[in-house]
Amino acid sequence: MTVPNSYTVRDVRIFPNVVLAPMEGVTDLPFRRLIREIGGAGLTCTEFIASEGLKRGVGKMHEMAQFDDDESPISIQIYGRRPEVMAEAARIVQDMGPTIIDINMGCPSKKVCAHSGGSALMKDPELARDIIRAVRGAITIPLTVKMRSGFDHTNRNADEIAYIAQEEGAEGITIHWRTRSDLYGGERAVDKIAETKAKLSIPVIGNGDVLDIPSAMRMFEETGCDGVMVGRGAIRNPWALLQIAQHINGQPVTEITATDRRRVLLGYLESINGRFRSERGTLGRFKKISNYFTKGLPYGGDVRTLVLRSQTIPEAVDHLETYFERLMRFESGDNTVFREARDGAAAK
Ligand SMILES: Cc1cc2nc3c(=O)[nH]c(=O)nc-3n(C[C@H](O)[C@H](O)[C@H](O)COP(=O)(O)O)c2cc1C
Repeated sequence: MTVPNSYTVRDVRIFPNVVLAPMEGVTDLPFRRLIREIGGAGLTCTEFIASEGLKRGVGKMHEMAQFDDDESPISIQIYGRRPEVMAEAARIVQDMGPTIIDINMGCPSKKVCAHSGGSALMKDPELARDIIRAVRGAITIPLTVKMRSGFDHTNRNADEIAYIAQEEGAEGITIHWRTRSDLYGGERAVDKIAETKAKLSIPVIGNGDVLDIPSAMRMFEETGCDGVMVGRGAIRNPWALLQIAQHINGQPVTEITATDRRRVLLGYLESINGRFRSERGTLGRFKKISNYFTKGLPYGGDVRTLVLRSQTIPEAVDHLETYFERLMRFESGDNTVFREARDGAAAK
């Protein structure tokens, strides 16, 4: 099977066809800059933004929608349940100049679903239709929709909702293979992505556990999707999108060293300095990113625990510096460095 390397949303070419997922509390401006500096993302997305807050002019919502002048294409994601408010929010956001507006129909959060937003819309196809129609009528730029495969296992209707979206003028669909009731677990089932792709003429992007080249290729092969979206895999390995894009384009794949990892993680910390009201806020965000970042690395669990327990930023940085220094030695063939460190810690 030949895997495509781009797709188009109306006249916008997404190349490479590897998309950074919208992630609340993660894909803010500094994180997206980090990914864009590394490369490989054909499209970046903001965190989801509440339509009600945008309409009321809440400063934080406008801040969340900000992007760099050279961040193009960029998609701003909005959520909500009231068609007229979603339309107004879309108008406000369109004026900020993004390439695409995306409607969230995938968020599993209780708070969002309780108000029939996010994935709860999948249970109410007529409300979903009204929202897409209202937003479509309010804007001229391309519109896409992101959803799960269904609300739960008795309601796996992504193909139906996506078809409605296409009828109402959406120009791209992303499907996370999980249902809302799977949250972030469940048994992998990408059949709804494949079914939707077969039914629709607009691009369909496959999402869910795309972490690296093999999982990306599997998504393309099993669903025939036009592109893949990478979420948690990009926090764990910010080079994941680049590596997938390189593979798709037949280019040599960049190998990552402990030195690269250290530089990027500590550089990220510098980039968020001053963005939060308190050091606690910065530390909280840094812990969250470090937690994902060290998953899958040799002895990553040891440093994760130390960072999570840190009370201050310098303390967390110290632990990470020590870890990366050991990782460098480990990569140069010193197989005992981590074991000795564990023994040393146990002897204390
Ligand atoms: C911390 C976090 C925040 C998320 N926030 C959003 C969001 O704001 N909008 C959205 O559509 N999906 C959101 N998601 C879902 C992701 O975009 C993606 O669909 C999901 O994580 C599955 O992809 P993955 O397995 O590559 O992570 C979030 C996921 C995570 C882990």
